[in-house]
Amino acid sequence: MGTLDGRIALVTGAGSGLGRASAHALAAAGARVLVTDLNGDTAEGTATSIRETGGTAVARVHDIADEGAWAEVVAAARAEFGAPVTALHNNAALTIGPVMDRDRDPLHLDLDAWNASLSVTLTGSALGCKHVLPGMLEVGAGSIINMSSTRGVTGATWRMSYNTAKAGIVGLTRTVAVHYGAQGIRCNAIVPGVFDTPALRGGIPRERVREVERSHLTNRLGRPEELGNAVVFLASDLSSFITGAVIPVDGGQSAFSEGLAPAISRGIED
Ligand SMILES: NC(=O)c1ccc[n+]([C@@H]2O[C@H](COP(=O)([O-])OP(=O)(O)OC[C@H]3O[C@@H](n4cnc5c(N)ncnc54)[C@H](O)[C@@H]3O)[C@@H](O)[C@H]2O)c1
Repeated sequence: MGTLDGRIALVTGAGSGLGRASAHALAAAGARVLVTDLNGDTAEGTATSIRETGGTAVARVHDIADEGAWAEVVAAARAEFGAPVTALHNNAALTIGPVMDRDRDPLHLDLDAWNASLSVTLTGSALGCKHVLPGMLEVGAGSIINMSSTRGVTGATWRMSYNTAKAGIVGLTRTVAVHYGAQGIRCNAIVPGVFDTPALRGGIPRERVREVERSHLTNRLGRPEELGNAVVFLASDLSSFITGAVIPVDGGQSAFSEGLAPAISRGIED
């Protein structure tokens, strides 16, 4: 028996990086998983690899900034698996690309980059909460796992809209937790350290990677499957008394103050 047998999980941005790893981990723990991503090919790739390893998963194209798309994927999960989504991993965010390259400091605030970043990373996660809550209320159970960042809980230079959106995720998490705790619905945020994903490789120059590794007490980057383990824990009853929490999964990166700012800020600014 897996810890998530019978659960229906939805993971956004699951075509790549941490979302892909979490979708695999949830499926390995017994959940039936709706894998969604803006990129339908990568979403299908994740769902196919889950099925090849004996899990249950289907893929859908999904823009989390589009409210109509949320209604469709939540309905699709119920139609596919016969029950409401009871675990949502709000993982997707605008992490890399031309828009994010214009996401800099307050003096150079680029309104297009700001709006795009906030509407995907923060509003997209809020819409996810809105659309899974009715099904969770119906069954009186559910776990929402939002994705913040160390950049959302500490001061950080560069990428001001990303940092602000990730700080907003903390507020969103606590707000959902406050409203629905008594109805059996938990909502927590994960604060990842730096993991070895395409977003990292696109965001930090190769020569800075060693410096970033050393900014963790573990002296290495996180492995995506280690993030997946935390998602499974928060989705399962093993975390039944944990809600409204903001939980570092960061190799101790946020446990000390030296090193983090030089490693990450200089890496992105250079
Ligand atoms: N990798 C890290 O070290 C790290 C650190 C802190 C926080 N995070 C957070 O973890 C999450 C995953 O990061 P990652 O490193 O795996 O990133 P990634 O760039 O590898 O994956 C992000 C995925 O989101 C998808 N996506 C982008 N816009 C979307 C949209 N509008 N709708 C649906 N999907 C969309 C992309 O297609 C991609 O598959 C993000 O929330 C990120 O901010 C990552």
